[in-house]
Amino acid sequence: MSDFVKISRDDDIALVTIDNRPVNALSFHVRGPLMQALVSLRDDASVAAIIIACAGRTFIAGADITEFGKPVQQPDLRALIVTLESITKPTVAAIHGTALGGGLELALGCHFRVADAGAKLGLPEVKLGLLPGAGGTVRLPRLVGAVKALKMIVSGTPIGATEAHAAGLVDAVFEGDLATHAVNFAREIARKGGPFTPVRDRNAGETNLGAFDAEAADLARKARGLEAPLACAQAVRNAVTLTFDEALAAERALFVKLVASDQSRAQRHLFFAEREAAKIPAKGIVKRRIGRVGVIGAGTMGGGIAMAFANGGYPVTLLETSQEVLDRGLGTIEKNYAVSVSRGSLSEDAKRQRLAQFKGSTDYADLADCDLIVEAVFEDMAVKKEVFGKLDAIAKAGAILATNTSYLDINEIAASISRPQDMLGLHFFSPANVMKLLEIVRADKTAPDALATVVDMARRIGKVAVVVGVCHGFVGNRMLAARGSESEALLLEGATPGQIDKAFTDFGWPMGPFQMGDLAGLDIGWRNRKARGLTAAIADTLCEQGRFGQKTGRGFYLYEAGARAGVPDPEVETLIREKAAEKGIKPREIGAEEIIERTLYPLVNEGAKILEEKIAARASDIDVVWVNGYGFPIGKGGPMFWAGLEGAARIIDRLDHWHRQTGKEVFKPAPLLKRMAEIGSWETDATG
Ligand code: 3HC
Ligand code: NAI
Repeated sequence: MSDFVKISRDDDIALVTIDNRPVNALSFHVRGPLMQALVSLRDDASVAAIIIACAGRTFIAGADITEFGKPVQQPDLRALIVTLESITKPTVAAIHGTALGGGLELALGCHFRVADAGAKLGLPEVKLGLLPGAGGTVRLPRLVGAVKALKMIVSGTPIGATEAHAAGLVDAVFEGDLATHAVNFAREIARKGGPFTPVRDRNAGETNLGAFDAEAADLARKARGLEAPLACAQAVRNAVTLTFDEALAAERALFVKLVASDQSRAQRHLFFAEREAAKIPAKGIVKRRIGRVGVIGAGTMGGGIAMAFANGGYPVTLLETSQEVLDRGLGTIEKNYAVSVSRGSLSEDAKRQRLAQFKGSTDYADLADCDLIVEAVFEDMAVKKEVFGKLDAIAKAGAILATNTSYLDINEIAASISRPQDMLGLHFFSPANVMKLLEIVRADKTAPDALATVVDMARRIGKVAVVVGVCHGFVGNRMLAARGSESEALLLEGATPGQIDKAFTDFGWPMGPFQMGDLAGLDIGWRNRKARGLTAAIADTLCEQGRFGQKTGRGFYLYEAGARAGVPDPEVETLIREKAAEKGIKPREIGAEEIIERTLYPLVNEGAKILEEKIAARASDIDVVWVNGYGFPIGKGGPMFWAGLEGAARIIDRLDHWHRQTGKEVFKPAPLLKRMAEIGSWETDATG
């Protein structure tokens, strides 16, 4: 018996309960006593059946990720499963909450699995750049078939108890007290008697290898340079083409390789970074209650933001300037939900429930009962101040007032109202109902309880929150500007939009800067540049010609007949050469390496400045912003993690080189980038 593993008895049924909260990870201090418990129960003739269950909110959520990359302490999980599987009396895993990764693998070492109706089961290792490393790829196909196992393991998405039951992964599903049901289940099977066949000795059934390979090839295409999904597919294939022991050994070899890879290190870094980013000092803080949410502006962002809240279960009052614009906004929301229904991702009933959350209005007085009000009107300081002036007059005491501004100074808006302590930024990304990232902008006078309340709320609406400080463009858009100016310079020097975008997609981005600009609308950046007295020779000219990107059918690329993928446009290439000639620039060949160094190294340098200025609290927060808001490849861990892989000294050296090469003033690295080059760490990262 230990603090982490306890044995209790219901007559001849033994119940082993693991208690390693919060998520019952299979840490070393669990594995040791669990092994002892299994051995003693195996050898105890008075025990007819053994149940493995967990205390707290969930079954085992996997191996302990903090132990990866460190020497393995015995017994390891595989040894534990071998012992479990050698027991001849019936063994049962009783699953509630989530059985994930090594947790499900342990359950696969039992003869039977029973689950609470709300339980979820999955092998999400792929999301950490890994494959299941304790027999999951070899045992799961023996229960659910190779194709189903392939889908589960390559996607990493857990399935519910009912689906697991139908697929053969779970033997029984129960509502109510799981322990009691599990004891009755175990007693019944023990009474019926064995022999009980371990999963390793079962047959995966006939596998149509042609269909399997077609599915695997499709998944490989979507992997975008990530190694883990391919290794997962290979391992599942091995499960049906090799013997159990051969497939297990092959799985192990793949796991050992992946766990040491930069991609897996990057993805594990992101796992902890996302959890760390939302942490703020909360001691002694009483959070405010958010019942109803108000959203001002039913345009691109306001509509999406309102949907995000409704999806998270909040009733929403949506305010517009006129009934006509309001109706249009509500109509778009309804259409968006209808698309989800037609795609099968939302039921008709759920759509009705979501729509019932909305109340439209054109009268500010209707916002008086809202506890949080998010403004998403035009990006114009005067308009924003007017809106917040009205809110100051009508909002209830303690209501949190938030702006979705992309760039404007939130301190200035806060200074214009009588309650700056209630004001902060909630910077959603487009489309706001889909994109995971939420930059929560803490203004100088934002009250700690207001901040803590929205951090909590962000989790409820399924966002990955990062708390940032006030500066032009906050973390994401400020760094994006550093990338954007170099992209334009590269065009003038001889690269084409297609070459630059290809260098980005080869690097692992879902799209390149010009594809992204065309998708988002080139007019957004154009308006912003004009407001700040800035220019971009090529993008400005395209906008003057009415080429705003996909929405006008023409931007950096041509989009014929509503096509979503653009094709190169000779007119744009001529324009680029003309602009270059006007500036006296002679075009030259530009390689992918130069494109990446000149666009992404400045991003890192800007990130270092953001850290110095304490706009972001940790380097890993910046990574979370870039991976979740801008599509930075997860296998590279975000710009600041990637900088560690590249080496800060190299980044400084190469930026210095490119500055000289392109006739810019001497490159002055951010002091923190220089320090990173000396000590090899940003010193602010999430642990784990
Ligand atoms: N190892 C170590 N720590 C873990 C962990 C794990 N497997 N899973 C979660 N944690 C930690 C989190 O870091 C967090 O710590 P913190 O409070 O100090 O920040 C704490 O547990 C709570 O986690 P969440 O905030 O994520 O809690 P939620 O309730 O929101 O989510 C969860 C619970 C769904 C279980 C989620 O934590 C999760 O997805 N965990 C990871 C699951 C996973 O990837 N398992 C596979 C691991 S790899 C493996 O098993 C290899 C094997 O094949 C050999
Ligand atoms: P939009 O032009 O699509 O929508 C703005 C809406 O606000 C319009 O429907 C307009 O009628 C309404 N409006 C204007 N003044 C109002 C007032 N006084 N009261 C009520 N409603 C009013 O603009 P978009 O793109 O939704 O942007 C809104 C805000 O979100 C801006 O601050 C923008 O910088 C920011 N943002 C935009 C992103 C984008 O990708 N479009 C991303 C993140 C932030």
